[in-house]
Amino acid sequence: MSVHRCVYLLSRSHIRYRVCASTASVANNTTLHPTRRTFENLSSRHSSSYSSSRPLDTSLFVPLTVRSDEVSSGAVGEELTEPLDKSELLKVLNKFYKRKEMQKLAADQGLDARLFHQAFVSFRKYVLEMNSLNADLHIILSDICCGAGHIDDIFPYFMRHAKQIFPMLDCIDDLRKISDLRVPANWYPEARAIQRKIVFHAGPTNSGKTYHAIQRFLTAKSGVYCGPLKLLAHEIYEKSNDSGVPCDLVTGEERIFVDPEGRTSGHIASTIEMCSVTTPYEVAVIDEIQMIKDPTRGWAWTRALLGLCAEEIHVCGEAAAVDFVTELMYTTGEEVEVHNYKRLTPFSVSNHAVESLDNLKPGDCIVCFNKNDIYSISRQIEVRGLECAVIYGSLPPGTKLAQAKKFNDPDDPCKILVATDAIGMGLNLSIRRIIFNSLVKPSVNEKGERELDTISTSQALQIAGRAGRFSSVFKEGEVTTMQRDDLPVLKEILGKPVDPIETAGLHPTAEQIEMFAYHLPQATLSNLIDIFVSLAQVDGLYFVCNIDDFKFLADMIQHIPLNLRSRYVFCTAPINKKQAFVCTSFLKFARQFSRDEPLTFNWVCRHVNWPLAPPKNIKDLVHLEAVHDVLDLYLWLSYRFMDMFPDANLVRDIQKELDGIIQVGVRNITRLIRATEDQSASPETATSVRLPVLDTSSLRRGRGSKNQRKEPSVTDSSLSSRLVQDGLLTKELLQQLQKEWVREQSRNGDDSISANKGKRKKK
Ligand SMILES: Nc1ncnc2c1ncn2[C@@H]1O[C@H](COP(=O)(O)OP(=O)(O)OP(=O)(O)O)[C@@H](O)[C@H]1O
Ligand SMILES: [Mg+2]
Repeated sequence: MSVHRCVYLLSRSHIRYRVCASTASVANNTTLHPTRRTFENLSSRHSSSYSSSRPLDTSLFVPLTVRSDEVSSGAVGEELTEPLDKSELLKVLNKFYKRKEMQKLAADQGLDARLFHQAFVSFRKYVLEMNSLNADLHIILSDICCGAGHIDDIFPYFMRHAKQIFPMLDCIDDLRKISDLRVPANWYPEARAIQRKIVFHAGPTNSGKTYHAIQRFLTAKSGVYCGPLKLLAHEIYEKSNDSGVPCDLVTGEERIFVDPEGRTSGHIASTIEMCSVTTPYEVAVIDEIQMIKDPTRGWAWTRALLGLCAEEIHVCGEAAAVDFVTELMYTTGEEVEVHNYKRLTPFSVSNHAVESLDNLKPGDCIVCFNKNDIYSISRQIEVRGLECAVIYGSLPPGTKLAQAKKFNDPDDPCKILVATDAIGMGLNLSIRRIIFNSLVKPSVNEKGERELDTISTSQALQIAGRAGRFSSVFKEGEVTTMQRDDLPVLKEILGKPVDPIETAGLHPTAEQIEMFAYHLPQATLSNLIDIFVSLAQVDGLYFVCNIDDFKFLADMIQHIPLNLRSRYVFCTAPINKKQAFVCTSFLKFARQFSRDEPLTFNWVCRHVNWPLAPPKNIKDLVHLEAVHDVLDLYLWLSYRFMDMFPDANLVRDIQKELDGIIQVGVRNITRLIRATEDQSASPETATSVRLPVLDTSSLRRGRGSKNQRKEPSVTDSSLSSRLVQDGLLTKELLQQLQKEWVREQSRNGDDSISANKGKRKKK
């Protein structure tokens, strides 16, 4: 058996060298670019050797179990010598473990203290528990026990065992080669084969950067726009087609070809992750380039900047990214032409905080960093007899646009907007004044840790820049805070220069992970990723993006039998892991897929319980948002596995319908909030539905609060309970009011159901 294993290892290593050789030839192809050598020298000053000499994180090495039938060769050893005395054997083995010389020898072969210990424990167990050892090992041990051999003679057998349980010890150099991310510019031979011109449109928000880049895009014979959000891609797609330049739309979940026959147009508006790095274009636009430093999505900007195959690349973003982009372009030998812009409308920081919602004025936008604050504030605004629109990240695009339209419409009574920083990029809103409800935002840092931290200057400027938009009715923008204490902090944040960008994100490719899997066939995908990241060598200009979400999904579907490529694709699906329903759907999709059973429209409808009723409270609304995400996941997968997700068109239809239902729900959001409050106030339902109202005062005080972050506390500050507490409302009166509200709620609910039914009939 051990002979077979040797042959197997040999043939594997043979193929292994073939794989590596082919990698090398890919790298060689990229030397086509004449100036590469010169700029490699320039960039070499950034090359950090820290990662190559950095000690390997061996805690990621998961030991494999050595099966007895793989190593035993019968009782030959016993027949040649005699049975081993186990207590003597134990003494010999423990002595071997303690020998410094052995530890040093093992370290030379890649076994640090942790691995040495793990390998020894496994080896000792194997030796002591095995009924019959391999003849050679049996004879050596027998000799040592009777004083005829030296204890160090165990070492080769120990090492053989160690390599069986830690196969990566045998191929660590190959793994290092595969995970060498030091020259990412070489990953894009098509882009390196042409000389590109880089034009950087730099300036503050609302200075016309995107506008000017798009003007050039529209005059080109062909072009691609790469934006950070679906809504921005949609906006450019519409703008381009409206100005008579046929333009297709490509996002993860949607492809719209303007040509009725489905031929591609010369122009494409796409989300940045979806842009092609092999199609040639005359002009490419990369919007919001400062996102290149984003801990999770930065890799997509790096890929676009290094890989887009266009004669002119127009990059739009903060001036803080100019030096960095110029430096990155040294590695490709491309010059950067910088166009600087100034804000198109004046913008000022107020000297007064708003302090109370009684002081709101038309055109105000209150920015919160969590959804519960949105609910609580919109409810309080309603109590004051005002209407408000709400926009937050998890709303479907149609609902966001409908809310934006309502707020922008001068004839609509809704003049206040309550939003998360989801408005920070993309939507065109008629905002006169931005009011920061808080300056503390939950985030994930580069190590993947959750933090509550004061917003950065860049984030504050991005959000504040929404006020007094050039194209809006307000020709001047103002920014302030809700709390008096926050105003000096905001001034300090806005007064600071934006931190210059220093590194760009990178992400392992499917091919690299496939090669890792080839070497470590027993490792889980999540473990492969961990080892990859631990071994990866990056140039000082780059960092490896946080891939926790990928690993989270990989762990979730580890037990489902899928081939590596499909598993990898599933794990790159952009899903919100905080949504339990989305996660369980993901799991169900993967399971159905693994059974080779196509996920039909009827199957999806059964899964999401379609048709769905309009939301009656916030819990319903949150669920509908999750269902919308699940349908998005279906559409996303349908572009990667068309045969298995065959009903994208039908799914898209119900997703649009669902967007409509959510739109109606959000239009009446304060009614939903009220219903939720009522349900949590009533003793029968208190445990089933509860709308947490956040006491954000602790968060607001969080200036520089990296080390003093607090989880928000849940307090019942509903208006009704406050009125009862203050003696302004009796319990009897409250019950009477609740009954009336419930009646009103069900009447309204019925109305929207019948409206919806009518709509469906029409279809
Ligand atoms: N020269 C111009 N003529 C007409 N409209 C313009 C002009 N420049 C900018 N605009 C309009 O002003 C608004 C702001 O411009 P744009 O979106 O290009 O700003 P930006 O600098 O990209 O802002 P942000 O950093 O927020 O993305 C847009 O509605 C745009 O169409
Ligand atoms: Mg812009």
